[in-house]
Amino acid sequence: MELNIQTSRPYQILIQRGCLNQLGEQASTLFRAGGRAIIITDSNVGPLYARRAADSLAMAGFVPDVFTFPAGEESKRLSTIEQIYCAMAEQKMTRTDFIVALGGGVTGDMAGFAAATFLRGIGFIQIPTSLLAQIDSSVGGKTGVDLPQGKNLVGAFHQPRLVLIDPDILSTLPSRFFADGMGEAIKYGCIKSRALFELIKGNDVANNLQVLEQMIYECVNCKRIVVEADEFDTGERMLLNFGHTLGHA
Ligand code: GLY
Repeated sequence: MELNIQTSRPYQILIQRGCLNQLGEQASTLFRAGGRAIIITDSNVGPLYARRAADSLAMAGFVPDVFTFPAGEESKRLSTIEQIYCAMAEQKMTRTDFIVALGGGVTGDMAGFAAATFLRGIGFIQIPTSLLAQIDSSVGGKTGVDLPQGKNLVGAFHQPRLVLIDPDILSTLPSRFFADGMGEAIKYGCIKSRALFELIKGNDVANNLQVLEQMIYECVNCKRIVVEADEFDTGERMLLNFGHTLGHA
């Protein structure tokens, strides 16, 4: 299944089991062949999926590197961003090279912020690996980091060039984090789509991959509609923050 989102820079969102393996092929339609790519991931996700992502990029003729940071919200800070910049500078990355965000919301927010600011902006691909990131944070271009004074206080709107959502990846997601994402999915049902709400109510989503894929599609489609109407979060998009403030607290 795929969706095309019409933001200031339109892009494709591919929702398909196993699509992690298509990373190289998909990237070659967007970026210069032979270019460099840096996969940004954390210490939980990297050992499971970074090699597959790097191999797929190398097969397509890119030169991949991997930057891994300690998993957890504590890493979502400017000092980690500086380390990412240094890794990219050491690799002599240019504006035609790109970043791959491979992980959950923390990874996507940080990798996106590095992409928004390194060399005043380079391209990036989102590969969300948590249910919450697949249905929410990987789509819509919000990027940023926390400060000691609060969450997401520094950031930028920077849309990815592509989002690859592979539901198979969720098989390694701890159930607590799956439940986290289901809370957000139910919220989309409540605020935007009765059909989605009924789909969740009438099925064992966690144990039915077909329904899970359909649910992800419906959620991302809700997000797409809201982001297209209010890309820079000055009106309707604020509706999506319903529940987030309390959740963050
Ligand atoms: N996560 C809420 C938004 O993207 O606006």
